Amino acid sequence: MTLAPGGKLGPYEIVSPLGRGGMGEVWRARDPRLNRDVAIKTSKAGFSGRFRTEAQAVAALNHPNVCTLFDVGPDYLVMELVEGPTLADRILLSPLPLEEALRIAKQIADGLEAAHEKGIVHRDLKPANVKIRPDGSVKVLDFGLAKAGEAAELSPDSPTLMSVPGMILGTAAYMSPEQARGNPVDKRSDIWSFGVVLFEMLTGKRLFDGTTVSDCLAAILVKEPDLTGAPQKVRRLLSRCLEQDPNKRLRWIGDWAELLDAPSGLTEPRPRGSGLYVATAVFALIAAGLGVGLYRATRPAELKPLIRFDLDLGADVSLGSPTGTDTILSPDGTRLVYVLQSKLYTRRMDQTKAVELAGTEGAFAPFFSPDGQWVAFFGGGKLKKISVAGGADCGRNQHQRGRGGSRRGSPAVRNAADRRGRHIRRLGRRPALPRNLLKYRV
Ligand SMILES: Nc1ncnc2c1ncn2[C@@H]1O[C@H](COP(=O)(O)OP(=O)(O)O)[C@@H](O)[C@H]1O
Ligand SMILES: [Mg+2]
Repeated sequence: MTLAPGGKLGPYEIVSPLGRGGMGEVWRARDPRLNRDVAIKTSKAGFSGRFRTEAQAVAALNHPNVCTLFDVGPDYLVMELVEGPTLADRILLSPLPLEEALRIAKQIADGLEAAHEKGIVHRDLKPANVKIRPDGSVKVLDFGLAKAGEAAELSPDSPTLMSVPGMILGTAAYMSPEQARGNPVDKRSDIWSFGVVLFEMLTGKRLFDGTTVSDCLAAILVKEPDLTGAPQKVRRLLSRCLEQDPNKRLRWIGDWAELLDAPSGLTEPRPRGSGLYVATAVFALIAAGLGVGLYRATRPAELKPLIRFDLDLGADVSLGSPTGTDTILSPDGTRLVYVLQSKLYTRRMDQTKAVELAGTEGAFAPFFSPDGQWVAFFGGGKLKKISVAGGADCGRNQHQRGRGGSRRGSPAVRNAADRRGRHIRRLGRRPALPRNLLKYRV
């Protein structure tokens, strides 16, 4: 099936591509009869009569944390369109703070509970099948749909291994041991996957990983999961979700919160640092463009060893910012932010993929906050800031032509160069006209 924007599929008008997964393509489409946008997922394999019966049960599932299935065509599914990034995108930015992870976990658990009550098993719960909407609400996608087609490819990264009956289902890294063995699964298999997803949210790391699917499956079947990276508060819950024997596993997802330990036992995982200290050199470069004296006067630079490294951002990335620097490294050297086509992208140095920071259209001349948690940038005639974890940005003082800056303290962006690079200015906490600190010639 070849779809293109402007084309039609049954009564639906195809609008634009949303992505591609193990089963086929996903498109944004319009249902003109109900005047609403929907998501259409194509299946290369087509659907069996048995799948259609199961899809009816999924369509009857009506829960705020479950993406609703509207319609099943001969080789496509029509679903509620869910805006926002997937949980996989969110984890790529940084591990989630405990509170945020538990807020998301609660919504996933609520969705699972509603489905399990109706005898529906997800079978493919993974961060890529959880969407976080801009208002923070969570929707679990693809309930019970893992049976619908055939696997396009087998890799531990994104493969939704589909079912011809008896074949293993779900994505390798999140599969329960019984699923990995190709045995029948029930709701307890989803509870295992819930544990794997919660661990990954909190640590930013896959619990079971491997370079091949077989390695990954072997780790699931053989390895005693090492939960030490997760906060104490969730370890009892995780070990009950991750029991090899489904009979010993947590039986009912609705009971998950009872297994959380008191906050007193809470120890956050230590942040992962790659030990790179190139930041000093990069900051020196930025500062040179703006008046290094001010920066040094406020934050004496520690002497760190100089490290040189090559970084391949991919053939399709051509960096460029009309003014200011286009590539910055966080102060602890663990994260890169760059300007591509006037938008900011961030990539953790221990990851291979960069993620767009939403809401940064028109950005240039970015710079980090000292704690590395915020990036300030110029755009739309304003100086703005955005959390590297993807929080909303907020426009601050009017600044048409900033070249860069540095920030002291939190939360205000304090210092910024402006006006064709000839002034260094100090910004106050409240949006107000910036005060000139010093003037210099270029
Ligand atoms: N209902 C939906 N609304 C919006 N985007 C969706 C929806 N379903 C899937 N997508 C997006 O389409 C892409 C492919 O999805 P999918 O085929 O489910 O992949 P996978 O097989 O890896 O789960 C993903 O990036 C996903 O975020
Ligand atoms: Mg999916």
